[in-house]
Amino acid sequence: MPMMRIDKLVSQSGFGSRKEVKAILKQKVVFVDGEVVTDPQMRVNPETSAIYVGDVLIEYEKYVYVMMNKPEGVISASYDEEEQTVCDLLDEKHQWHDLFPVGRLDKDTTGLIILSNDGGFAHRALSPKKHVEKVYIAQVDRELGEKDVKAFENGITLDDGYKTMPANLEILSEKEAKVIIKEGKFHQVKRMFEALGGSVLSLKRVAFAGINLDASLAPGQFRRLDEKEMNIIVNLLSKD
Ligand code: URA
Repeated sequence: MPMMRIDKLVSQSGFGSRKEVKAILKQKVVFVDGEVVTDPQMRVNPETSAIYVGDVLIEYEKYVYVMMNKPEGVISASYDEEEQTVCDLLDEKHQWHDLFPVGRLDKDTTGLIILSNDGGFAHRALSPKKHVEKVYIAQVDRELGEKDVKAFENGITLDDGYKTMPANLEILSEKEAKVIIKEGKFHQVKRMFEALGGSVLSLKRVAFAGINLDASLAPGQFRRLDEKEMNIIVNLLSKD
């Protein structure tokens, strides 16, 4: 476990912004292995040290997993000089966890995006070998039919010659469908429809790796994964 700054650790643990934590440190109520600490830059090992704020023992969370309902117009990145990113939508406490989006949704795509600071999880979830399932709801500009269902089933040759893996298309209404893919090529869903002479008007991801978007999250809102969802992550991490 790398050493980390005491102000970052205390802030991440829910005691306020870094500025607020500085004030807490000045009050001489933060203890590392029984010694008062006032220097916000002091580095500690949260796994081996007993760290208290007053009489509250800090339980360090190494990895954090959050689901967000990504709104339109926001990019899937940690930081950008011009555009608003999904990480900008996090509250101060979560911003301290150095979360990043696990995978990408286009700027105009909405719905489920997982944010985490667990690089191992991201690597596995995005590995082309893992075939992690993604579910989307797509609105398109033309009527859909059985021919489209078959085309998705057989795999579709994209504009660059790549043939997609078999995918699932379930027609929900004339111009709306549920799409399930097990890979994640650039603009994949849009390009699949384009290859069939259609155009995606709106795209929303509703599930990723068996984790469903919480319908109670308004666009831009996020929450920690619950225990059941965490089990899915643990399972994914335990498989070769
Ligand atoms: N496919 C796309 O075309 N766009 C996305 O954002 C996700 C999948």
